[in-house]
Amino acid sequence: MKADIVIKNISQLVTMEGPDKPRIKEEMKNIGLIENGIVVIARDKIIYVGEGELPDDIESHEKTKIIDGRGKTVTPGLIDPHTHLVHGGSRENELPMKLNGMKYMDILKAGGGILSTVKATQNASFEELYKKAEKSLNIMLEFGVTTLEAKSGYGLDIETELKQLRVAKELNKNHPVDIVSTFMGAHAIPLEYKQNREEFVKIIINEMIPKVAEEKLAEFCDVFCEEGVFTIEETRRILNEAKEYGMYSKLHADEIEPIGGAELAAEIGAVSADHLVAASEQGMKMMAENGVIADLLPATSFNLGSGKYANARKMIELGVPVALSTDYNPGSSPTENLQLVMSFASIMLKMTPEEVFSAVTINSACSLKRENSIGSIKIGKKADIVIFDSPNINYIIYHFGINHVDKVIKNGEIVIE
Ligand code: NIG
Ligand code: FE
Repeated sequence: MKADIVIKNISQLVTMEGPDKPRIKEEMKNIGLIENGIVVIARDKIIYVGEGELPDDIESHEKTKIIDGRGKTVTPGLIDPHTHLVHGGSRENELPMKLNGMKYMDILKAGGGILSTVKATQNASFEELYKKAEKSLNIMLEFGVTTLEAKSGYGLDIETELKQLRVAKELNKNHPVDIVSTFMGAHAIPLEYKQNREEFVKIIINEMIPKVAEEKLAEFCDVFCEEGVFTIEETRRILNEAKEYGMYSKLHADEIEPIGGAELAAEIGAVSADHLVAASEQGMKMMAENGVIADLLPATSFNLGSGKYANARKMIELGVPVALSTDYNPGSSPTENLQLVMSFASIMLKMTPEEVFSAVTINSACSLKRENSIGSIKIGKKADIVIFDSPNINYIIYHFGINHVDKVIKNGEIVIE
């Protein structure tokens, strides 16, 4: 076999060896660490992983790129399974409101927050949305993200929801980062439906979901299940309908109030329940029993400034598989920096560096139903790899707020160096 890229003498190689399924409890600590590691890539796939030198049955050719991994940490490409990538405008105007004590949900109730981004997204052209999202996508790739999820939900009318999803589809085609799309028409109740929310729920169920499915624009469906937004019953109806059209379920669950979102995620067999800052212990237990992934978003907690963070330690203790995401969006989490999220997860959620790396690789892959092709450095998987200019994983987490990426390899191509 001929090697196209060889990365050798790697100080710490994080392989995430093991079965392609969500890692729980102690499994999250086993990241398959190899010292003096070597990874070999041919075309777009990984063809060898190990320690030391190139094995006899793999040859290099005159164009083989040899990368020296001394002093470097090499991991699977990072995966960000919860973002609101495509949207118009920004919301720095909310910062002074927040500093004056106005709560996130009060801004939304007053017609701001998500609803102000809805206006900006409705008013933006396809090209404007594309350019803005592309800029963020470039930043994410620079930070080591090779696959991410992108939600709609800033349209709330069928035309704009489709526009957002079509932008994500086009970017997925043209940009090295792989994008998995989620339909989130149930992100807020538009002001004009405030007195008649049932009408809006019916539009989502009877018009939006069939149209999104017909155009094959989303693999997942998500609902903002929260006090004052969508109720448990509405969320159940919407997600069950989406399931009929072949979409997997995700939920924005128990972010602010413990209304039973985690329990619902378990009941309907959602792939993930996200946020979970206020989730009940019963809900967590049910998630563990049903294998629902907890996708935690500590940058959102930081930015909301409430001081409340998800109880990751409890979830891990109970056997819930934990993933981590930026939640990149213009309101509650205006950052593309997944490495910062990893530091927050360690310091604020008390996750060990090993658990953090499991969360942003294999568990995130599972959260996007991509565990068979990405999320670990394993023979036959996609060559999506990050080389960090750091001697070990602890350093990446400890030295926070900066970008540690040295190189990113996506589908076997060096796309950042
Ligand atoms: O995940 N919580 C609901 N939705 C987003 C925020 C969207 C926004 O504020 O624009 C979130 O935090
Ligand atoms: Fe979100």
